[in-house]
Amino acid sequence: MVKVAPSVLSANFAELKKDLDSIQKYGADWIHYDVMDGHFVPNISFGYSILADVKKVSDLYLDVHLMISDPKKYVDEFIKAGADLITFHIEAMESEEKTRELIEYIHQHNKHVGISIKPATPVSTIEKYLNDLDLVLVMSVEPGFGGQSFQDMAIAKIKELKDKRQDAHYLIEVDGGINDQTGKLCKDAGADVLVAGSYVFNADNRQAAIDSLK
Ligand code: DX5
Ligand code: ZN
Repeated sequence: MVKVAPSVLSANFAELKKDLDSIQKYGADWIHYDVMDGHFVPNISFGYSILADVKKVSDLYLDVHLMISDPKKYVDEFIKAGADLITFHIEAMESEEKTRELIEYIHQHNKHVGISIKPATPVSTIEKYLNDLDLVLVMSVEPGFGGQSFQDMAIAKIKELKDKRQDAHYLIEVDGGINDQTGKLCKDAGADVLVAGSYVFNADNRQAAIDSLK
């Protein structure tokens, strides 16, 4: 069964605990935590100190999506704050050597590692890392903002990642513009984890929204 990871980017931060409790009660599997630095993407969200607070009040698996220019510089802070999975963008990395070092570093700290690709980045860019990854995050919108429309090209990438998986163990996660309809397309293509921000948090009935994604 597909996992649902509501993105707290669309939560009400003044009532964060209430929002986290509600999605946990309604069957969310993970919390997707979008970190934006105003440099890698044209928006600023939240950092590791709020993550540490989230960790204190929720038992859900913490899926941290780093949309930042220098993931290595801050990775220790996110590890300390309680991330379970740390996903960084391949577009933020300057070399294969640094990418491999970062994957290894996160694994040495007993955390899961993911790499994300923006809509214009082909799967071939990350092919050489696939055997070492716990997750690949396919962006179905340009990273930076919630509430955008799903871009169909994500479907072909999900299928490609599924075909390539063979002996590797990575999960395929998709992020951006997910609702009941686009979520179904992704599931049928082979996605294992659906991130949904506005569709879950803006729903009148969050239970129904999460159920419809599963
Ligand atoms: C976008 C973020 C997403 C965002 C998704 O840069 O990575 O996780 O919160 O929001 P929706 O589901 O509203 O498109
Ligand atoms: Zn995200």
